Amino acid sequence: MDQSLVFDLDLINRYDKAGPRYTSYPTALELHDGFTEAHYRAEIVKSNALGGPLSLYFHIPFCDTVCFYCACNKIVTKNRQHAEPYLANLLKEIALQGSLFDSNRVVNQLHWGGGTPTFLNAQQMQQLMDATRQHFSLKEDDTGEYSIEIDPRETNSETIKHLRSLGFNRISLGVQDFDPAVQKAVNRLQTEAQTFGVLEQARAEGFRSTNIDLIYGLPLQTVESFSKTLDKVLQVSPDRFSIFNYAHMPSRFKTQRQINDADMPNAKVKLDILQMVGQKLLAAGYVYIGMDHFAKPDDELAIAQREGKLYRNFQGYSTHSDCDLIGFGITSIGRVGDVYSQNVKDLESYEQLLSQQKLPVFKGVALDDDDKCRAAVITQLICNFQLTFSQIERAYAIRFAEYFSLELEALKPMQADGLLNLTEEGIEVLSAGRFLIRNICMVFDKYLAQKHQQQFSKVI
Ligand SMILES: C[S@@+](CC[C@H](N)C(=O)[O-])C[C@H]1O[C@@H](n2cnc3c(N)ncnc32)[C@H](O)[C@@H]1O
Ligand code: SF4
Repeated sequence: MDQSLVFDLDLINRYDKAGPRYTSYPTALELHDGFTEAHYRAEIVKSNALGGPLSLYFHIPFCDTVCFYCACNKIVTKNRQHAEPYLANLLKEIALQGSLFDSNRVVNQLHWGGGTPTFLNAQQMQQLMDATRQHFSLKEDDTGEYSIEIDPRETNSETIKHLRSLGFNRISLGVQDFDPAVQKAVNRLQTEAQTFGVLEQARAEGFRSTNIDLIYGLPLQTVESFSKTLDKVLQVSPDRFSIFNYAHMPSRFKTQRQINDADMPNAKVKLDILQMVGQKLLAAGYVYIGMDHFAKPDDELAIAQREGKLYRNFQGYSTHSDCDLIGFGITSIGRVGDVYSQNVKDLESYEQLLSQQKLPVFKGVALDDDDKCRAAVITQLICNFQLTFSQIERAYAIRFAEYFSLELEALKPMQADGLLNLTEEGIEVLSAGRFLIRNICMVFDKYLAQKHQQQFSKVI
């Protein structure tokens, strides 16, 4: 597959509009409260009949300080006591969900995200993993993909060693930007020594895959300043980069209002940064996975993409298309069989439901045949940059040209603009279309036309 990237400023400007990130289709906006615990339980029964491996996601929402840009689901508190009741409820949820899933279903993938998972102390982390082992079949031979998001400011010399002993073998570090002025403007002061110390220690302890999160589009960023940040990170050669486009939606995220409008880089600067990022990372030997992600060619994401086996779920790109995903903790979203379900968003409801032995599910959506077919099309495009019509026709018993006649018509201007190639057999996304993959997927999104676009962040 051609893995080059073409950066056409004119095209990007023309196509730059708000759109979903397609970590699911339908997107999380389609989850509704007509979906109840009973629906979720019924889907688990069906999924057990089919069997197959599991992926577990645990949400630890607490953060010690707030980063002004942050759009994650988090609770900012200095009071470490808050972790105690939360953990107690999380353990109840693990026992409850664990009793519903067949115990022979192996956990191929496990992830702790946040917030800040290491807000929990060593003993609490141990309790969480012990309970998970008690109620689910974790792999004990280190072949599972067990990962954790780390804020380097929230770890000490013991943390990484401890996490490795708990069974984690992948690590993702939040950095965002090393420039002191940018760090001050977003209220996240973090040194290089602190960050790279954690990374080196993780490698020494045998963590197999390392990822660094950066954000472009933050206040006071320039091409030069972000280029310096990137150079510093490249020196330690992480296996993967997540370079997120800053989603600035101050009407939704209050703390983003602390960011001075006058400090925001303009659209031209953002595009220049993005171009610089693409050039630098490709020159350094990374491949573009898609949607903000780069990886070394021998990383399993890059391998899966070359083999056409990459997949996308609520945590981003993944190689585990065969797993049912169970979410634990407030706000977490899971996908079991053909339903997406989300847990309640506040601590009180979470506590109350679990105290009554109820699953804390408060909304969800069951995919119909059309959703499943469109989800498959969007997944193929966003993950593998190509689509073979016959595969979709076989799997969903449709004639692609008829079923998607309007969509194929809508792709023609994109073909004329050089974003993609439409043939009798399928769709091939070209180099110029890779940065604009969201726009191509949006054509197949039945719900988008009905939505207010402001609910999504800009594509670039
Ligand atoms: C859930 S956070 C967890 C990481 C950990 N709490 C930390 O800060 O190191 C995951 C990542 O989301 C990204 N992120 C948060 N808010 C964002 C926003 N408004 N726009 C783009 N990316 C964002 C950041 O790169 C962050 O590292
Ligand atoms: S970026 Fe991480 S540490 Fe900062 S507020 Fe968000 S979740 Fe918390």
